[in-house]
Amino acid sequence: MDIAESIREIREIVSQAHAAGKKIGFVPTMGALHDGHFSLIKAAKERCDFIVVSIFVNPTQFGPNEDIDKYPRTFEDDCLGCKALGVDLVFAPSVSQMYPQENITWINVQSLGDSLCGKSRPGHFRGVTTVCAKLFNIVSPDVAFFGQKDAQQALIIKRMVADLNMPLEIIICPIIREPSGLAMSSRNKYLSAEERKQASLIYASLQHAELLIASGLRKSADIKLEMQKMLNIGPEIKIDYISLVDAETLQELETLTGKVLVAIAVKIGTARLIDNVIIDNT
Ligand code: PAJ
Repeated sequence: MDIAESIREIREIVSQAHAAGKKIGFVPTMGALHDGHFSLIKAAKERCDFIVVSIFVNPTQFGPNEDIDKYPRTFEDDCLGCKALGVDLVFAPSVSQMYPQENITWINVQSLGDSLCGKSRPGHFRGVTTVCAKLFNIVSPDVAFFGQKDAQQALIIKRMVADLNMPLEIIICPIIREPSGLAMSSRNKYLSAEERKQASLIYASLQHAELLIASGLRKSADIKLEMQKMLNIGPEIKIDYISLVDAETLQELETLTGKVLVAIAVKIGTARLIDNVIIDNT
């Protein structure tokens, strides 16, 4: 497995793979890799012949009071994990490699970025889209793999690729969870044992919503209230949002119809955690 820090090296290695007729699969990450990330790599291995993983904690997607400085960095273990799964190339650029000068060119996927996490993290998605566009330009993948865990991010990236005619396919992979139901996340490392216990209420409340909807409840406000009650069992849980939105447009729904994304963001201690389920009422 090659590890490269420079854009020049990446372009060289990938263009050789392309010339050899290989299909390039790409998994962008911010490192601190866990089974959620590894599931994307496995999906890439199934569909592609040459796998590139990027590890870059992207400063432009963090707000001024967010956790960039303490974001977990486990580079050596990440590389061991990638190697064990048969990754061909790890791209681990420095901030100055990715942003050699002040960045003044941004991609905004307008309406999809305003709701949910876009509300509580202004500028976040503009940072994500811009860095992904840069990474796509550097790596030139045929297929890139993203997780449903970040549902809004996945939708926004798909839309950017479609609107800007970027020559790659985006594949969205299912959420990988811990046995407690907690969605795997690099930020779970911030949780104490007690907080981790309470964090399992996030998925429990999403499952509760699934049951309520299956039993015929259709009013968002009623479902939200029930989810809120369940989350409030955890004294450390501070709800950022509980939203029931159209799974394609991310517009809030008062009454549920069609494909619904039920999405949650909470803070537990210093960790901001998100999770979601999609429920199909069609
Ligand atoms: P990061 O949080 O490291 O996540 C990288 C990818 O792993 C994302 O596509 C995310 O949705 C996926 N992922 C994380 N946890 C997962 C889980 N439990 N199950 C399935 N997939 C999971 O998302 C980012 O980095 C960044 O915003 C990035 C796209 C790399 C741009 O900087």
